[in-house]
Amino acid sequence: MLVPTHIPVLLKETIEALAVQPGGRYIDCTLGGGGHAAAILDHSSPGGQLLGIDADPNAIKISEARLQAYSSSTLLINENFVNLQAICIKYDFLPVHGILFDLGLSSFQLNSNGRGFSFQHKAPLDMRLSPNQEVTAADIINTSSETELNHLIKRYGEESHSHRIARRIVQERPIKTTLQLAQTIEQVIGGRRGKIHPATRTFQALRIAVNHELEHLEAALKQAINLLGFEGRLVVISYHSLEDRIVKQFMQQESKDCICPPGTPTCICGHTARLRLIKKKVITPSLAEVQLNPRSRSAKLRVAEHISTQAQDEQYKTIEKLCFSVGVETGGWRNPTMLKKLRLAFSTP
Ligand SMILES: C[S@@+](CC[C@H](N)C(=O)[O-])C[C@H]1O[C@@H](n2cnc3c(N)ncnc32)[C@H](O)[C@@H]1O
Repeated sequence: MLVPTHIPVLLKETIEALAVQPGGRYIDCTLGGGGHAAAILDHSSPGGQLLGIDADPNAIKISEARLQAYSSSTLLINENFVNLQAICIKYDFLPVHGILFDLGLSSFQLNSNGRGFSFQHKAPLDMRLSPNQEVTAADIINTSSETELNHLIKRYGEESHSHRIARRIVQERPIKTTLQLAQTIEQVIGGRRGKIHPATRTFQALRIAVNHELEHLEAALKQAINLLGFEGRLVVISYHSLEDRIVKQFMQQESKDCICPPGTPTCICGHTARLRLIKKKVITPSLAEVQLNPRSRSAKLRVAEHISTQAQDEQYKTIEKLCFSVGVETGGWRNPTMLKKLRLAFSTP
């Protein structure tokens, strides 16, 4: 049997950005084929732990096989990362030293014939990450009004021909397969120009809408901060401008002490920074990586570090002292008993 592969993007950069250390606890919110997860487990050994999450049950199966050697240090959960905080509470997996989001789809999903993510394979217009979701891309295509389709394709696909595409879709309905939709779009805006297929933006828009990708990302980022322990790292790899804008604005806002509108004479928001930007500039793949793995070409990695409050810092120092007093020296706060105490400390507002 041909073993499917997904090449992890910006792998070395991700491990550096997460500052993975032996004994650390990490969350991979987008497990996929387990490529980043395997590297995190390698670098956090001995004693590292990983909670891996993926909405796609198939990704969990593939990762379970790949991460078999680490089964005693991993917990793999088939869930949507929109429920990140609830998952961590349920499995008692907090605080953590690093959280990774490697957004989008894996090569398995794009290359899979039956999922409907790609206009290169004939398949029903599905595009759901999980079979538990109710609404498919076909439902959206065949039941939305022309105005709704126009809005969706423009907003989520940033497609300048959205109006014409929406009108033609409504004329051609019912549209049931990927190839039927791709051909409908080609009839409106012509064939492939350069490397970008004319259906790329509409397919992106549909996938974002079916899976509520942008709303889920925003919600999960807010939860992620609450789960990070002392100097914990948040690392996000995004693949299109809509995702990257959300990540950039979130990290910028959370790294400011005041977010009042410009010109406000005195601060009225009371906001305090909870993140510190580690690199102000976005990290992108090298030319060599893009040549080796063309799917990495649009990747953008952003990283920030958790700033704990003064109260948390005080608690942390107390716990460190406690670690020394019981003879657990370096990294004592990673000891499971200490982690429990640390977790209690971090629950202090
Ligand atoms: C680019 S792949 C990750 C690849 C992985 N880093 C690796 O090295 O193999 C993205 C994965 O995130 C999953 N995913 C996307 N959105 C999700 C969500 N809201 N909740 C959970 N998983 C999600 C997809 O199912 C896919 O498997």
